[in-house]
Parts: sequence; C-alpha cells; structure tokens
Amino acid sequence: MLVTTKKMLNDAREGGYAVGAFNAENAEMVWAIVKAAEELKAPVIIQTTSSTLKYFSPAYFAALAKAAAESVSVPVAIHLDHGASFELAKQCIDSGYTSVMIDGSALPYEENIRVTQKVRDYADNFGIPVESELGKVGGKEDDTESDGNEYTDPDQAADFANRTGISSLAVAIGTAHGIYAKKPVLDFNRATLIKKVVPIPLVLHGASGLSDDALREGVEKGMSKINFATELRIAFTDAIKAHMAEHPNDFDPKKYLNPARIAVKELVKAKIQVCGSVGKA
Ligand code: 13P
Ligand code: ZN
Ligand code: NA
Repeated sequence: MLVTTKKMLNDAREGGYAVGAFNAENAEMVWAIVKAAEELKAPVIIQTTSSTLKYFSPAYFAALAKAAAESVSVPVAIHLDHGASFELAKQCIDSGYTSVMIDGSALPYEENIRVTQKVRDYADNFGIPVESELGKVGGKEDDTESDGNEYTDPDQAADFANRTGISSLAVAIGTAHGIYAKKPVLDFNRATLIKKVVPIPLVLHGASGLSDDALREGVEKGMSKINFATELRIAFTDAIKAHMAEHPNDFDPKKYLNPARIAVKELVKAKIQVCGSVGKA
C-alpha cells in the first residue's frame, strides 16, 4: 500500500521504534524491500539517491516502486534520499514520490533554510512530507560527499525545524555513509537532547556498518527513521559473485539475480527487526 512517510514516522516516534529506509538500485532490490516488509508486517521506506535517478529517471523508478508498493498490504513510502536540488525534489514529487529529502547540509545555515523552505512550500501543495539535514554526516554516498562530521547542535536544530516546517530531520551524531574505516564516535545522547527540543521524527543516516547494539541504542535514544544503503549493495553484489563463481556458464539473469534479491530480502528483514518495527504495519 502506497503511503507518505508522514504518519508512519510520527507513529514510530510515538511508539519508540524506527522505520527502516532502504536504498534500492533496481527492480530486484525494490522487490526485496517490499517482500521483507510484508513478511514482517512492518511499514517500510524505499528510497533512491540523486545518482540512482540519473540511472533510472524519477518517473521510471516511481512507476516501478509504486507497483511494488501496491502489491503488498503493508504501508510503503517512496522517498528521494539526499535530494541535491529543488528541481530534483520537484521532479520526484511530480513523478509520484510520496516523500522527499532536500540535502542542503553543505550550505551555509541560512541558505539551507531557504532551499528547504522552497521545497517544503512546493511539497505542501501535494501533502508530501519533507526531510532535511542539519550538521554533516561523514563519508561518501554516491555523489554526496561530506568533508567530515559536524555534529548537529540541538538549539540550532530546534530553530531549523521551526523555521522550515519540515516533517523529519536528519541529524549528524557521528555516523558516516559507507562502511566504517575506523570505529565511529557516536553521540546518541545528543539524539536524545535533540529529540527533547525538536517535535518531529529524527533520521539516522549512514547505518551500514553499525552493530545491532549501536542501532538499538539509536532507536532507544530517539531515532525514528534509519537509512541503510551500502550493506544492501554489498549483499546484492556478493550473492551474484558467489553464484557466478559456482555457475560460471549461467547467462539467464534470473539465475543470478534471484539469489541476490533473496540475500537483500534477508538483510532487510534483519534490519527491520533491529529497528523494532516488526508488526507495526
Ligand atoms: P549507509 O550507506 O552507511 O548505509 O548510509 C545510508 C544512508 O544514509 C542513505 O541516505
Ligand atoms: Zn544518507
Ligand atoms: Na555507514
């Protein structure tokens, strides 16, 4: 069932669990995400980065994800992850995305507010919720590269949420995109402080490479949406490599993509369990 992220994330905040948001690159990963959610009766978010939308257009991807969402009874949202511009956010909304992120975190504060307000004003016409980021999540996500961590300041976060009118806020508390080269310094107490002064759901980026214990602590300390990308890409590709190593003469894509989509489905199920959203659909 296709829905926006509004109610599902507000319910998560209220209920003290997180909704898993999973980056998809193709039809098999979309299938894996909705099947995992359906098996666990969990709400779920399918999301794509700006670079995935250069590979498949927003209209193409939205049609694919919408068909998947409507094939299951659990709530599924289609979200733009790290929207690089107002134009892309608008294009996604016009194409049927039910949630968008505008990532102005690299901009000076007032400019981040301005671009976020512009997206929010447009999205409001269609009832589409907007996520925005304050502070800097480290690492590299497709085309989005940050020059290091800059932890979100709680007072500034309150001002930002208030002035932009966004529906959810991505915070930087020491996580980074990709797999961690060295152990991250996580500041979950900051999440709790931010949650106290920011009345909307908080989003944790960069979850690949975090232990289940760290993820559980993140949920406990107030994160309502948790983003997973790199680990899904690795699970998908590793399964193909393993299949082809054993069956080097296979040429039917279904032969090697089926184990890949099942590997992603199992991984998504494990992450949904850690997020605590099993049975929350
Ligand atoms: P990872 O690649 O570390 O899972 O980060 C995902 C993310 O934050 C997507 O926005
Ligand atoms: Zn991210
Ligand atoms: Na990560």
